Amino acid sequence: MDYALLEQQVRELLRGEPDHLANAANFAAFLYQEIPDLNWAGFYYADPSGELVLGPFQGRPACARLPGGRGVCGAALTSRSVIVIDDVGAFADHIVCDAASRSELAVPLEADGEAYGVFDLDSPRLARFGAGDRDGIVRLVKAFTESVAPPAWR
Ligand code: SME
Repeated sequence: MDYALLEQQVRELLRGEPDHLANAANFAAFLYQEIPDLNWAGFYYADPSGELVLGPFQGRPACARLPGGRGVCGAALTSRSVIVIDDVGAFADHIVCDAASRSELAVPLEADGEAYGVFDLDSPRLARFGAGDRDGIVRLVKAFTESVAPPAWR
């Protein structure tokens, strides 16, 4: 995967549009189209209680709300670190939204020193996200958070 090229394309896709929702929808759709072997790509946003609420995504309908601090996404939010799970079946706290998912990558969304949500990718392949994909996808999410202000509804 040429993540440098994808980063340029993401920056171009997001340029000039201030609306968070429009940009998040396009970002999820772009990654879902461009990165092979995904069955889900999308956003969750922290609400004031710490729960994660579903945002724009591509793939099957997903859990609308994840309990605070739980699951792969909750762990990424509370630890503010990128989480890669090679086999979701072996990760006890995984929250199943689509039974087809076998591996997962969750990246916290940060602005002004605060984590406001998570971008999550699921794959039907075990260990889909190697070190190169992890770094490349983090780079794309960074391009998103640098280009797009946090949502105004928060
Ligand atoms: N598996 C996630 C839940 C979100 S879905 O994969 C879309 C988790 O454990 O947090």
